[in-house]
Amino acid sequence: MIKTASPYPLMKVPFVDLHAQYLNLKKEIDAAIAEVIATSSFIRGPHVEAFENAWALTLGMKHCVSCANGTDALYIAMRGLGIKPGDEVITTAHSWISTSETITQAGGKVVFCDTDYGTFNIDPLLIEAKITPRTVGIIPVHLYGQAADMGAIMAIARKHNLWVIEDCAQAHLARFKGQLVGTFGNAATFSFYPGKNLGAYGDAGCLMTNDSTLAIWCATFARHGGKGEHVMEGINSRMDGLQAAILNAKLPHLAGWTEARRRIAARYDSLLDGIGDVVTPKAQPDRYHVYHLYVIRTGRRDALKRHLAEAGIPTVFNYPKALPFYPAYAYLGQTAEDIAVAYANQSQILSIPIYPEMTDEMSDYVASQIKTFFL
Ligand SMILES: Cc1ncc(COP(=O)(O)O)c(C=O)c1O
Repeated sequence: MIKTASPYPLMKVPFVDLHAQYLNLKKEIDAAIAEVIATSSFIRGPHVEAFENAWALTLGMKHCVSCANGTDALYIAMRGLGIKPGDEVITTAHSWISTSETITQAGGKVVFCDTDYGTFNIDPLLIEAKITPRTVGIIPVHLYGQAADMGAIMAIARKHNLWVIEDCAQAHLARFKGQLVGTFGNAATFSFYPGKNLGAYGDAGCLMTNDSTLAIWCATFARHGGKGEHVMEGINSRMDGLQAAILNAKLPHLAGWTEARRRIAARYDSLLDGIGDVVTPKAQPDRYHVYHLYVIRTGRRDALKRHLAEAGIPTVFNYPKALPFYPAYAYLGQTAEDIAVAYANQSQILSIPIYPEMTDEMSDYVASQIKTFFL
């Protein structure tokens, strides 16, 4: 049963609406797809090259090496940085598994670090205690679209001579102290999975770096160790022309979509202020949060999720467990005390709908249903 205190009629609010986005850009997208088909530029080719150049320019980085997805980008970057068996890499305990699974796949050992309560990101105050003589790098994730504390992380990396790969999969155009994420570390990786802030119509990803030697190694490795002359054994991880053409059509809209996300987030912030025990995801004053996800916390998370589902509002747990508590990482033997903040968050977090095409009526309806639940 839906409680009825809402002044709005029941409506359906999707979690994201990629179709609405397509309809707004139909002409550009259809033309881009037709052009790829007409020119048979299916794998790499001019559209991929144009996207690599445009994205590098957007970030002010020298190199964008496109690849098949954001997970591959992490793997390729680590291989390029010369990770060796047994090398330890510190990463955040609460995120999507790509970051940690690729550390293992590249031959390294995953070292999880707990998160900071305010931002959900890796807690820089806990990183140094994790460093051992085997530590080679740190991979912060700019989770949900808010930058990790790159000032503190880069200072630790410099002090201990560690590399940094920024996982920017959820943080296109996010900033820390005015500087774009992806421009701090030795390399940065992006995902263009369809639901990301800049999303393709299938899998796509890239890595960014200012290190020309690293860029050339990664591009060669990702394309079978070199076309014509195989200078090494590589992998097959290429962006395809259709994805690149779609990304080229969407890129000019990214800044506007980001502002739309921020406006919706600000609306939620004020509408949900003081409601029950809800904690809203306030952006830190020195960060430009791009709200890939809008994640609230409440002790009544599961019941709220059920209430919202009945009201036509799907919600998601991003992520239902902190990584150390999945069977995949049982071998690390980590306890709730080791990863206390992420452990507490995992049963309280709830991602509510946010996407640029969302109307004020929709965000007001979501907020009103949350209010109703807590009446
Ligand atoms: C934080 C994070 N890292 C990496 C990835 C991997 O990206 P992809 O799905 O393109 O492999 C994702 C995608 O969900 C992500 O959210």
